[in-house]
Amino acid sequence: MTVSTTTDFRLWPGKLSPDAQAALASEVLALSQTAPFYKPVTPGGKAMSVETTNFGALGWLTDARGYRYQATHPMSGAPWPAIPQGLLDLWAELADPVTPPDACLVNLYRGEARMGLHQDRDEADFSFPVLSVSLGDTAVFRLGGPKRSDPTRSMRLSSGDVCLLAGEARLFHHGVDRILAGSSRLIPGGGRINLTLRRAGPSPG
Ligand code: SIN
Ligand code: FE2
Repeated sequence: MTVSTTTDFRLWPGKLSPDAQAALASEVLALSQTAPFYKPVTPGGKAMSVETTNFGALGWLTDARGYRYQATHPMSGAPWPAIPQGLLDLWAELADPVTPPDACLVNLYRGEARMGLHQDRDEADFSFPVLSVSLGDTAVFRLGGPKRSDPTRSMRLSSGDVCLLAGEARLFHHGVDRILAGSSRLIPGGGRINLTLRRAGPSPG
């Protein structure tokens, strides 16, 4: 069990300064040289429009065998790179000061990439929140409720924005309708990077 310092959905617009965004973007892109972005395939056999990679002890992936966390990159078989310290610090500040995240999913949205409405529910313990960091082009983000049929609201997530799904919102449906191409110059070649920090394994304590 963890004592969460925050509850529900929270958004910190512009939490990362332009300098911090640039530093994090270059760190992420450098790490993606060792753990390259790739296009995952859903269990149903459809290629996702986002490219993904992971940092941390566990990485989220999908393939014909289903959705799961695993310790290694599916192409290289190598362990995922460590989660950058700046992200660990952000998690400690905004999500959980005691238990660090063990997984960071990195999504790269280029062109028409989007993400359908879903819940994050492949983690062992939903008492840990999910912390999301946006870099690059603005996303049209959709947030619903615990049921797929619940009403949704649309909001924009811009570069440097950080949001938290905690408490009741931990299992809220969410997705990305589209990316506003050209809204940022942060990512070389354009696009958006989203980093979601999670505690995927069981509580260490
Ligand atoms: C996700 O739910 O994995 C990504 C959300 C986002 O890109 O903002
Ligand atoms: Fe998600």
